[in-house]
Amino acid sequence: MYPACIVDKFQELFGSAPQVTVRAPGRINLIGEHTDYNDGFVLPASIDKAIYFAAATRPDTLVEVFAYDLGESLTFSIEALDKIPNHWSNYLKGVVDELQKAGLSFGGLNLVFGGDIPLGAGVSSSAAVETGLAFVINHLYALGLDTMTMVKTAKAAENHFVGVNCGIMDQFASMFGKKDHVIRLDCRDLSYAYFPIALPEHTVILCNTGVKHSLGDSEYNTRRLECEEALRMLAQNFPSIKSWRDVSFEQLDAIKSQLSDNVYRRALYVIGEIERVIVACEALDAHDLATFGQKMNETHQGLQHNYEVSCPELDFLAARAIENPAVIGARMMGGGFGGCTINIVEKAAAADFLSSMKEAYSTAFQKALVCYEVALTNGTESMA
Ligand code: GLA
Repeated sequence: MYPACIVDKFQELFGSAPQVTVRAPGRINLIGEHTDYNDGFVLPASIDKAIYFAAATRPDTLVEVFAYDLGESLTFSIEALDKIPNHWSNYLKGVVDELQKAGLSFGGLNLVFGGDIPLGAGVSSSAAVETGLAFVINHLYALGLDTMTMVKTAKAAENHFVGVNCGIMDQFASMFGKKDHVIRLDCRDLSYAYFPIALPEHTVILCNTGVKHSLGDSEYNTRRLECEEALRMLAQNFPSIKSWRDVSFEQLDAIKSQLSDNVYRRALYVIGEIERVIVACEALDAHDLATFGQKMNETHQGLQHNYEVSCPELDFLAARAIENPAVIGARMMGGGFGGCTINIVEKAAAADFLSSMKEAYSTAFQKALVCYEVALTNGTESMA
C-alpha cells in the first residue's frame, strides 16, 4: 500500500507526479532510555514502519498538505506559522520555523504524507514526520544541510514548536538508521557507532499497550527538570562533575539528604542506565545475549520504580514476557506512560509468545494486544 497510495493521492490532488518521494522511519530503542537528554548513551535503530512523503515545490510560499491517514488537508503560509493546539501540522510547521530561524530561504510545497507507524505507541511517528519534512525541504530546495544538521532541526522543531523538551534520540535514529544495525549514540558528543545485529535465532517484537502516551508530555518535561535539579546539586557538592557521565553512585549517596526522594530516585536511575548501556553493548559485541537481555529487564525495573514513567499495562506486559523462557529481555520502550514494550524472543517460539501474550492481555485488561515483529532498516531516504 505505502508509498504507492501516497504518490497516487499526490497525483490526484495536484495533477502531476511528485518531484520526490521520501521514507522516514520510526525507531526502536534496545536500551538507554531517558539517557539522551542526560548526556548518556542510547542504542536505537530505525524500523520497517515509516511515514512516506510525496512532495513538490510551489512558486509561492504556501504549503498545501494532505495528511493521508487522517484524510485531512490544510494550507498554511511559511511566512505566518501559527500553532494549532495538539494539531498534526505543528510537526511540519516547527521544521519550517527552525529552518527559517537558521537563515535558510525556500518556498512553498505541495505535500501528501502518511504511513504505518502506529501513533502514540512510542515508536516516534512525530520524529519521523519532522525528519521526513526536513529531508524533503533540504532536497527540493537544495539547502545543502548535512544529516546531523537535519536531525538537530527536527529535534528543535519538537522542542520549540510542539513544546516537548525531548532529547535527540528519536530524530537521530530516524535519520541515521542502517539496515540490520543498531546505533550506539553518545549523546554527550554525538559520536556514534553502528553495531550489526545478527540475531539468527531471535526476533524483536513490540507489544502495543494501546495506551496513548500523549499525557506523558508534561511528565516528560518534569523528569527533565528533576534530572537538572539533581545534577545541579551534585555539581555544587562535587565541582569536578560536569555531566551525568561524571557521577558515581557514591557521590549521589553522599548528597542523598539534600535531595527529595523523587529527585534522588530519578538520579539513581540515570546513573544506573548509563552504566547498563555500556555493559549491554559489551555483551552485544561478545554475542552474550543473556546478559544483554538481563540489562533490558533491569532497565524496566528502573523505569517502573525509580524513574516512574511506566503504567500498569506496560508493567504487566514486561513481567509476563520475562516469565517466558523464550524471551531474552523485555522492557517498556520510549518516553513511557503507554506505548509499547520491546521484547527479544526466540524465533522458534515467537508464535507461542504472541498468542500467550495476547490472551493474557485481553484477560487482564479486556483489550486486544497488537504486536509488531520489526526489521531494522535504513534511515530517512529518498525513494525516487
Ligand atoms: C522520547 C523522547 C526521546 C527520549 C525517549 C526516552 O521518545 O523523544 O528523546 O528521551 O523518550 O528515552
